[in-house]
Amino acid sequence: MILPIYAYGQPVLKKVAAPIGPDYPGLQDLIANMWETMYHAHGVGLAAPQIGLSIRLFVVDTTGYEKSKKEEEPQDAGIKKVFINAQILSEEGPMWSFEEGCLSIPYIRGEVERPPIVRIRYQDENFQEFEETYTGVNARVIQHEYDHIQGVLFVERLKPLKKRMIQRKLEDIRCGRIQAEYKMRFAAVR
Ligand code: NI
Repeated sequence: MILPIYAYGQPVLKKVAAPIGPDYPGLQDLIANMWETMYHAHGVGLAAPQIGLSIRLFVVDTTGYEKSKKEEEPQDAGIKKVFINAQILSEEGPMWSFEEGCLSIPYIRGEVERPPIVRIRYQDENFQEFEETYTGVNARVIQHEYDHIQGVLFVERLKPLKKRMIQRKLEDIRCGRIQAEYKMRFAAVR
């Protein structure tokens, strides 16, 4: 089932999300719905707050991501994974800039600087625990989705000038004065 995506301005996007256990009601259906919603909107990641749930769950699929030659290292192969109760353990390396976008903030993209290497502990959909290191685009998407469960949006990480330039567009999104290519739930009524 395709779920509506909560738009910039929705309070749920600003909350630190809570951990969940295997007894979370309807979890496997919820995960299936998140995949369906993400693919329908052509996203590479989706976090539970974006569908209105303040829980520590996000999904990432970078397997369709177009790679440049130098990114074809084995550790940079695309991943398709469910991350539950994720905790970033460390971020390393010289900051690199990459253009990000977000399904909750349609039509806005911007360069964000983040460290290139991330070490993360999480549980998968069967609540098996993993501790893994990711780099490149995988790290980038994980960091972006992890921000969502911490209540942070990529627009908050843009340079001050760019932030000022998008203020009006953000206000349009908050008030629902946009037409997205997928169903959205806006914070304010027109
Ligand atoms: Ni996002």
